[in-house]
Amino acid sequence: MTTLCNNDIRRVLAAKAHIWNHTFNYVSSMSLKCAIQLGISDIIHSHGRAMILSDLVNALPIDDKSKGQDYIYRLMRILIHDGFFLQEGDGYLLTPNSRLLLKDEPLNILPFVQFGLESIVIDPFHYLSQWLQNGEYSSTPFATTHGHTLFEKETKINHLLNEGMACDARLVMSVLIHNGKGLIFEGLKSLVDVGGGTGTVAKAIADAFPQINCTVFDLPHVIEGLEGCKNLSFVGGDMFNFIPSANAILLKCVLHDWSDEDCIKILKKCKEAIPSKENGGKVILIEIVMDQNKDDKSYETQLLIDMLMMVLVCGKERSQQEWAKLFFDAGYSDYKIIPILGLRCVIEVYP
Ligand SMILES: C[S@@+](CC[C@H](N)C(=O)[O-])C[C@H]1O[C@@H](n2cnc3c(N)ncnc32)[C@H](O)[C@@H]1O
Repeated sequence: MTTLCNNDIRRVLAAKAHIWNHTFNYVSSMSLKCAIQLGISDIIHSHGRAMILSDLVNALPIDDKSKGQDYIYRLMRILIHDGFFLQEGDGYLLTPNSRLLLKDEPLNILPFVQFGLESIVIDPFHYLSQWLQNGEYSSTPFATTHGHTLFEKETKINHLLNEGMACDARLVMSVLIHNGKGLIFEGLKSLVDVGGGTGTVAKAIADAFPQINCTVFDLPHVIEGLEGCKNLSFVGGDMFNFIPSANAILLKCVLHDWSDEDCIKILKKCKEAIPSKENGGKVILIEIVMDQNKDDKSYETQLLIDMLMMVLVCGKERSQQEWAKLFFDAGYSDYKIIPILGLRCVIEVYP
């Protein structure tokens, strides 16, 4: 039997706790999923003040409330630890984190969280090592698992993705436009939002800047049935073939879905669609710029999203140097990074 000195014991126990925490990190994600499915945040919110356990249990859609009480107590205990609720005396309160999950909160990110916690999204992670061992890099663990790519057809997960991205778009556009950061769009007469999903971003721009003609360009099945208005229209197509012309092209969370080679193809197509730099042409990206100097939590989120891009699509998150190389390889002359969105930045790229 191995004998350990005091220092070794401390190190081994700390390492064991670290490994256990990482092994069972999914328990936190699944507890959050359970809270969302039971509607716990909305129930506490409707209560209007700190809600004691028995009131919460009574309001929850669960059978056998008396036996269920201890289970809900333990669920709430981990959710408090994870920052979703607070305890005040005997009662539970919301935190800013759970407020962002309320159904009636206009900026809620509930659909994005529901997308991320779907088994269709989680299952491909079981095949990551197999995918690496087999070198199936022209495909993705997602495509190997499900037999189709994330974007290619109208599926339940494609709908969830579109709804998830739409709620992310509402939050981002609220920061950009309504908090006075709309300078990026000032002076434009036309803009095409390439890979613009169901049009949340373009609609926010069209409303805030009636002089800009906005076009949402996405795959035909994504924009099917969507109606524009006076300065907003929807065009279906494949960005690898053709991108409609405009003063500016917007790509929000699109390039991170693709390999360097594909990004260069897309950026070249964008360049064909805009005027010269002197005439105001630009590409506007909203993307992560990987930055190890950010606080630990932001960097951790960037690392998680990067792995998601590896498993779900053929993409990656990029550092400033990696972005710059892409822009210059695609024939652009300059770029400007504007770090105003927390985890993500606006990047203006000039032809
Ligand atoms: C991650 S979503 C981003 C949606 C939106 N820009 C946003 O951030 O809210 C990527 C989008 O690219 C679209 N897309 C994928 N392949 C495309 C293609 N070949 N041509 C046009 N759009 C495409 C997808 O349908 C999807 O709406």
